[in-house]
Amino acid sequence: MAPQLDSYFKQVDTLAESFIDRLRKAVAIPSISAADEHRPDVVKMGEFLASELRNLGAHVELRPLGKQPHKEHLELPPVVVARYGEDPKKRTILVYGHYDVQPALKEDGWATEPFTLSVDDKGRMYGRGSTDDKGPVLGWLNAIEAHQKAGVDFPVNLLMCFEGMEEYGSEGLDDFINEEAKKFFKDADAVCISDNYWLGTEKPCLTYGLRGCSYYSIEISGPGQDLHSGVFGGTAHEPMTDLVRVMGTLVDTAGNILIPGINDLVAPMTDDEKSLYGGIAFTMDNLYESLGSKTGLFADKERTLMGRWRYPSLSIHGVEGAFSAPGAKTVIPAKVVGKFSIRTVPDMEIEDVDKLVYDHVNKAFAALGSKNNMKVWLQHAGKWWVASPKHWNFTAAGKAVERVWGVKPDLTREGGSIPVTLTFEQATGKNVLLLPMGSSTDAAHSINEKLDKRNYIEGIKLLGAYLHYVAEEPTNEA
Ligand code: BES
Ligand code: ZN
Repeated sequence: MAPQLDSYFKQVDTLAESFIDRLRKAVAIPSISAADEHRPDVVKMGEFLASELRNLGAHVELRPLGKQPHKEHLELPPVVVARYGEDPKKRTILVYGHYDVQPALKEDGWATEPFTLSVDDKGRMYGRGSTDDKGPVLGWLNAIEAHQKAGVDFPVNLLMCFEGMEEYGSEGLDDFINEEAKKFFKDADAVCISDNYWLGTEKPCLTYGLRGCSYYSIEISGPGQDLHSGVFGGTAHEPMTDLVRVMGTLVDTAGNILIPGINDLVAPMTDDEKSLYGGIAFTMDNLYESLGSKTGLFADKERTLMGRWRYPSLSIHGVEGAFSAPGAKTVIPAKVVGKFSIRTVPDMEIEDVDKLVYDHVNKAFAALGSKNNMKVWLQHAGKWWVASPKHWNFTAAGKAVERVWGVKPDLTREGGSIPVTLTFEQATGKNVLLLPMGSSTDAAHSINEKLDKRNYIEGIKLLGAYLHYVAEEPTNEA
């Protein structure tokens, strides 16, 4: 295997510029799943992937998912499913990624145009979706191409599933995966997802856990239209005042969730688990570098990692309908919708969390004695996931990391969410591994998102090497 991998690696280096070009084309398509007006771009991005895959000789299908729930005028973007290779003697690996991205506007504070890949002299490649998740998704395509051009036999049959709604809670995908588990995905021996990041900038990791995410809206309305605060201030119940007060009861400055009962759902920490945090290559400086500040909640690394991985958190995201432009408009907004989400962990069940949230918000609003109307609802929910890192899928990935990066990876959990991870595990009954490409400073979801050229190119080597090692790894179904 060694000499074969060497010629594959060499070919990846030779093709590096064309792989960057492929990423440039992908970043140029603003496939923002949360913005209705960009839905055609999301579809275009799916078609781009499909056409690239067909050019590589893969069998590709664009599968419709029907209408978007609560937005009947909008068709969900298709799932791109593909198969490369059909050799019954080889293992079959199912990979998942997403081709949609978070919104991005230059005026948010980007130094460069968000949908133009901009490479600086240090090899940092800026652009929305570069690390989350277009770089890693293209990584699989690039791995196929480099095998072909190097004349190296592809070591596995590759099944691919790329979706366009991940950043919006993967709407429609659970049912699709459950449907296809015994059809398109039936041959899968293991699953690999490249859609997360290293904890720092130097040490790679393999990830075996994610938090879930339950995303809520609170709508408060009263007046028939926006009002002049000089004329109506002091005469009417104001929706924004009510909303701020209700939202103010959710979480405190120290990050404690104030909704009664939430913390009782959390699995207690065991001594075994506690002992895992000390050995992880992560420093408070890693945190401060990616925060861009020293505003951390905790002074030590262990508690910080626990706060990210194994305790729930509640974040307040924004208010629709509120005055947010610069200047000083004296308006009373007639209807405002506050958004917040809870990152969930073992053993929190989605329905139990919902019930506690609804009860609490209803009580908090009732306590205001306002004549306005209030509604609270769940926008989307994804479950947490924790797997066994002792499985052969992880062993193989560990060998690939050592081969490409020269170090043993840390085994980590993560604070973010990929809603279908657990679905893949349960529907296929196979082990799922998260194999990241990017690093902690990539700023996914933020301004100036980037992927380092080194992480992209070595990452392509890593994905290919993983397929070689996973093809050969002896079976142990731990
Ligand atoms: N790539 C992230 C998931 C992620 C984030 C993994 C941080 C590890 C660390 C993914 O694209 C994402 O952002 N997912 C959303 C899902 C949500 C909308 C349910 C997230 O976590 O906010
Ligand atoms: Zn992502």
